[in-house]
Amino acid sequence: MPAKFELIAPCFFGCESTAKFELTRIGAENIRVDDGRLSFAGGAEMIAAANLNLRTVERVMLLLARYKAATFDDLFDGVYDIPWEELLPADAAFPVTGSSLNSQLSSVPACQSIIKKAVVKRLMAKHHTSVLPETGAEYKIRFMLRKDQCEIMLDTTGEGLHKRGYRRNAMEAPIRETLAATIADLGRVRRDSLVEDPFCGSGTLLIEAAQKAMNIAPGLKRRFAAERYGFVPASIWAEQRQKALAESKLDVGFEAFGYDIDPAAVALANANAKLAGVEKRCHFEVADVADFAAKQEAIVLTNPPYGERMSTIEGAAKLARTLGRQMEAHPCAGVYAITADMDFESHYGKRANKRRKMYNGMIPCQLYMYYSAPKFEHTAKPMPKSGFDGKRTAPNRFEKNK
Ligand SMILES: C[S@@+](CC[C@H](N)C(=O)[O-])C[C@H]1O[C@@H](n2cnc3c(N)ncnc32)[C@H](O)[C@@H]1O
Repeated sequence: MPAKFELIAPCFFGCESTAKFELTRIGAENIRVDDGRLSFAGGAEMIAAANLNLRTVERVMLLLARYKAATFDDLFDGVYDIPWEELLPADAAFPVTGSSLNSQLSSVPACQSIIKKAVVKRLMAKHHTSVLPETGAEYKIRFMLRKDQCEIMLDTTGEGLHKRGYRRNAMEAPIRETLAATIADLGRVRRDSLVEDPFCGSGTLLIEAAQKAMNIAPGLKRRFAAERYGFVPASIWAEQRQKALAESKLDVGFEAFGYDIDPAAVALANANAKLAGVEKRCHFEVADVADFAAKQEAIVLTNPPYGERMSTIEGAAKLARTLGRQMEAHPCAGVYAITADMDFESHYGKRANKRRKMYNGMIPCQLYMYYSAPKFEHTAKPMPKSGFDGKRTAPNRFEKNK
């Protein structure tokens, strides 16, 4: 096995720049950003560090081969050439999943079966056995075919990285943890920030903000598939867990306040915060958004109810309007609202300084960002001078809705 691998981390659209920043922080090399995924280089330590520390990607995969596969023979040969015996012991279980787009090999089940056959043949030959019982650790093989280019990968994560281990139950329509972490980053949550959420539900946005502020690694409370892989030894996992633990900053000034009209949501948010180890920093109470008075220095991160999954379209619009009125009466440092309501700005009553397309699971959403000072991306690119940069002099068509 090489000392360094190419690793691939898929993420939701809109999360790439934050994910790149996170990868840089953990020392990943050769980072490449594409739509919906990042690739980077690193050794066994990086596999452990990436799984333990990354907040905004969905999983970490080890790229084993990339080649052109226009026929089943090409596909088989490329898979057979991978030194599987160095990765998988003779008792390994190895399910194969994948996808194919715009490729001659369009049948996913047929590709799965060819890949499985090639791995079986190689393992039998190299482990000198005629039986592969598949009773041991699971090594999930994934393939991706795009325009006849094939990538063969080994999943190192297991259950998706959004499963942090603190959200045992959720209310209807919770926001995905990886997305909540991205929003906390875009909202510039820092170690001493004050953060509020008037529609907190199960508390995900505030819990993710707290973990970010306190630098609590999101993977500390869970296990990963590669913990059972021989080529990422237990000593490396222990070392990386210890490192992540040592980097937690429990003495920061961060505080968060979440409100929800539903007492069951508030109880759940409190329980989740406790499981996440941030209960001393996150305070949840039952309250109606109509009474929400943000503190002047607060960053508001929120995910208002929207018609698709909760309440009615009209009900969601009314709540957005109420939020807009409350924020106008009690201005704060910034409001970051993610919603599938494409007319949110008109309902809220103000045009956002900036918007970003994002997905909450399969639901297309926008993150509406309101702030007073110009903000910069991690790429240090200045905000564009037109559009949603908050410097418009032309009358704002949404102002008239007030
Ligand atoms: C989309 S969910 C928020 C989900 C949350 N981000 C999470 O991860 O669980 C919207 C929340 O708004 C709450 N809500 C609805 N009407 C409200 C109101 N008038 N005031 C405060 N909260 C309200 C709902 O109970 C629900 O929990």
